[in-house]
Order: sequence, then structure tokens, then C-alpha cells
Amino acid sequence: MAVDNFEEKINPVRNKPLKVAVDESLTEKISNGINILEKEAKEAINQTLDLSQLERIRIKYLGRKGEFNNLIKELPKMSEESKAHIGRRLNSVRNDLETLIDERLHKLKDEIIEEKLRSEGVDVSMPGRGLSLGHLHPLTKVERRIEDIFQSMGFSIVMGFSIVFGPEIESEYYNFNALNIPQNHPARDMQDTFWLRQKISNLKSQISNSKNRLLLRTHTSPMQVRYMEKNNPPFRIIVPGRVYRYEATDASHEIQFHQIESLMVDKNISLANLKAVFEEFFKKFFENKKVEVRFRPGYFPFVEPGIEVDIRLGSNPKWLEVAGAGMVHPKVFEAAGYVPSDWQGFAFGMGLERLTMLCYGINDIRLFYSSDFRFLKQF
Ligand code: FA5
Repeated sequence: MAVDNFEEKINPVRNKPLKVAVDESLTEKISNGINILEKEAKEAINQTLDLSQLERIRIKYLGRKGEFNNLIKELPKMSEESKAHIGRRLNSVRNDLETLIDERLHKLKDEIIEEKLRSEGVDVSMPGRGLSLGHLHPLTKVERRIEDIFQSMGFSIVMGFSIVFGPEIESEYYNFNALNIPQNHPARDMQDTFWLRQKISNLKSQISNSKNRLLLRTHTSPMQVRYMEKNNPPFRIIVPGRVYRYEATDASHEIQFHQIESLMVDKNISLANLKAVFEEFFKKFFENKKVEVRFRPGYFPFVEPGIEVDIRLGSNPKWLEVAGAGMVHPKVFEAAGYVPSDWQGFAFGMGLERLTMLCYGINDIRLFYSSDFRFLKQF
């Protein structure tokens, strides 16, 4: 080592050669150290088998208290020239190691994913599982068909109240009183009612006002007076909707079911119009299967005369009751604010469930609300 030359060229001070000699041996020592560490770290990185081991290696060599930072602590002891040289070398090795760790990290991650796919047996080339599409409930299907048929006969669908005010919650007045069924009238017993519990304080002050007492509507007929209050004849409407009755269930009775109400008001409406509408409707509904329509006397306080409508299908000898109907009672016209002698009209209320049962040959009404997929998948 040319210590003497250095002393002569750079610094003539007496003890300087010793310092230069120390610097040179330190530089060499650190340079060797860097080479050893670099080799060691590269081997360790390449042999790593999992991510946590790789992280431990990163901390060991490149961490704040890691091997390379320990070497940096030696830098102040060196000459400016060595410092710059060793500093550059350290940076370059650090960068190389960081790149290597990064590459190894991605490789390990890919291997983990591949292993997972292999072990979980996912064959990405297999065709995907098809999503099965849902479909409409049979009651909805039949309700829409009925609406279409009536629309094709010049009827318009009025659902405004059910959408805006939720008319399934109805007042006693529209459900009963306005339909000529005053309090204590025996006809109220024909439709067992779910009454809604209301705040006593509200009721006390307005107890006599049936518009304030609420119930779940027992039929769609309340829409007759509601509609006539706001509209002038002539008109013809149908009102589909859900109704509720507090009664025992069996194969043909549910506590909630649907009705399709109809109201046609004009100057000269008679039962003949009602019969013609029914015949036309059933012909279309049962798609030209032979259908006979029969009227029987029936009692509903809001029509006069009142009738029950039965149908007979094909060669089946049995008559089936499908609707209540009749000519609008003068008291109902009065309740709506009409002059009864000026107008005539018919009204009817059909049970949607019963029609759907006939349509598909279903023998128990309770199946509609059972949420049983074995039943629902058939439609
Ligand atoms: C009424 O509800 C009257 N509002 C019908 C009416 C409208 C008459 C306009 C005159 C003028 P009724 O209670 O009969 O009537 O019911 C009519 C139809 O609803 C029945 O023919 C039947 O198809 C159906 N229905 C009645 N109760 C049930 C029940 N518990 N479960 C399923 N369907 C029912």
C-alpha cells in the first residue's frame, strides 16, 4: 500500500499517513462487507418460500436497524472520496435488493394464487354456472291478463288510490257506511273485519265520524264511492287490489286475497250490459273454451238487484261462484254526491285467487301464499 506516497502528495502533516491508512483499510473492509452481504441477501431472497419470510429478510438487510444501515454508520469515519464511493455502492446494492425483493414478492403471490386454484379445484376453463331467472307469481300473471282483457274492452285501470294512499287501509265510512252498510247492519257480519287499533284520544273527540275509524279493507268496493266523488260519468273502471278478511282459512278461503272490482256508470246501463261484459270477459279469459255464465240472486246492500255470478266450464257439470255483482244502489250514488235518478250503473267484484285456481287447475288457495318453490316453479 503506497501510504508514503499519499503522505507526500496530499498532506505533509506528520500523523496523516496513519489516518489515510486507517481509511483505506476501513474502506476495504466495508467494501468487502457490502459484497458479502449482497451475496448473502440475494441468496436468501431467492430461496424464500413465503411472504413472511421475505419480509423478515427485507427487515434484516434493508430495515432501519438492518445490516446495510449498520455499514452506513461507518461512513463518517472515512475520507470524502471513500464516503462518496461507498455511499454510491451502498445505494446501488440497496436498489438492486429492493428490486429483487419486489420481483420475488410478485412471484410468491402468483405461486400462492396458482396453488389456491389448484387445491380448490377451480377449472377456469369450465363454463360458468347459469343464473336462473325468476318469474312472476301466478296471481300477478293472471291479474295482468285480466287487466289486459278489460283494457281491450275499453276499461281503464284505476290504481291511483292504492299507490298514493295505500287504500288497503281504509276508513269504516268507505268500506261500509258509504256502501249502504251502516253500523250494526247485519251485512257487516258477512265480511269479518280486521280493525286497526287507534289512539283513544283521537277517537274520543271524533268517535261519531266513521271516516276516522280505520280497518283493512274487506273488499275493493270502497273504491266505488271514492272514484265517483272525484269523477263524473260516463265511465267504466276496474280496480284490482288486495283485501283482508278475519275468517278461518280452508282450500277456498284465505284471510288475504285479491279482488277485481268493476264499476260502469252511464245513462242507460242495465243487467244486460253486465251479462255481456261477463260473457265477453270469460270468453277471452278462458280462450274460447266453452264458458256459460249464470246469474243467481244475491244480497249486497250496495246494489239493487244484487246477483252472484257463476260460471260453468266445458263439459264440467259443476257451477262455480266467481263474483258478486248488481246494479249500483241509489244510496251509493247519493253518498258519492250524484243525483240517483240521473244515473245507472253496474258493479261487480271478482275473486282473483278463485279465477287463477280455475285457470291453472289449482285445488288449494293456501298454496299461493306458501312460498313453496315446488308449487311456484310450475308457472
Ligand atoms: C264482495 O266482496 C262484494 N264487494 C262484491 C261486489 C262488488 C258485489 C260489487 C256487488 C257489487 P263477496 O264477499 O262475495 O263480495 O266476494 C267476492 C268474491 O271474492 C267471491 O266471489 C270470491 O271469489 C272472492 N272471495 C270472497 N271471500 C274470499 C276468501 N276468503 N278467500 C278467497 N276469495 C274470496
